[in-house]
Amino acid sequence: MYDEVLTRNRKSWDTMADTWFGTTALPVYGCLAPTETELKLFPDLDGKKVLDIGCGSGHSLKWCGDNGASELWGLDLSPKQINNADTYLKQNGYKAVLSASPMEEMGEMPRKYFDIVYSIYALGWTLDLPKTIRNISDCIKPGGTLIFSWDHPLMRCVEARDNKMFLEGCNYLSDNIFSFELHGNPVTLQNRKMSTWINTLAEEGFKIEKIVEETSQNVLEQEYEFSNSYYAPSRAKLLPLSFIVKATKL
Ligand SMILES: C[S@@+](CC[C@H](N)C(=O)[O-])C[C@H]1O[C@@H](n2cnc3c(N)ncnc32)[C@H](O)[C@@H]1O
Repeated sequence: MYDEVLTRNRKSWDTMADTWFGTTALPVYGCLAPTETELKLFPDLDGKKVLDIGCGSGHSLKWCGDNGASELWGLDLSPKQINNADTYLKQNGYKAVLSASPMEEMGEMPRKYFDIVYSIYALGWTLDLPKTIRNISDCIKPGGTLIFSWDHPLMRCVEARDNKMFLEGCNYLSDNIFSFELHGNPVTLQNRKMSTWINTLAEEGFKIEKIVEETSQNVLEQEYEFSNSYYAPSRAKLLPLSFIVKATKL
């Protein structure tokens, strides 16, 4: 089951890679969320070794390089994404250590090495959260920073129609696995409660510094027509579409 799902997700991300070029990348954390420019969660990057989990096209790594990081490392399930990241970073004058491997299996990473490990809208793709957080815990330095963003768990509980939001189909109490089509490609994901995320981090020796459950001020201040779409601003005015975590490895 695990291998089958990983293979399907990899194939779909290979197919989508070119259409996902820099779509969710720092300083953007996620759909309609405040940006890093507003939140300032990252420590000073000057001279720091950083690892991007699910680095996609490499745009977030470039942002780290532009802000002074001394070593850029990235991993991604999709060889096509890694290929795109490699080309993009080289074109921008950066050398990076990139590997096409799943975050569930990070055996090749150096231990206690990174000052900062981050993941922009990718960590939630893991098929095994405890194992992935353990992998990160192994390669980050004590005192190092983990920052990640992902869909807010409430997102998949709420249905919108006829100018109203409904808790229909809400299954918040279950960390259920589900499959759907993303831009026509079959993918499988797991819902996780906020407590699942936080407890898993605590079990692997992370201290939570901050959790952001916000919509950007810019969106909150504007008027929008009601829309049923998943990432609609009208929805973001009522609930956070993304959450962001900053934690320290003890
Ligand atoms: C929404 S994109 C993230 C974009 C990227 N963070 C950026 O800054 O441009 C999600 C990424 O997660 C990767 N991914 C999905 N499942 C993965 C897994 N199990 N292990 C590693 N990467 C995975 C996908 O290939 C895709 O590149």
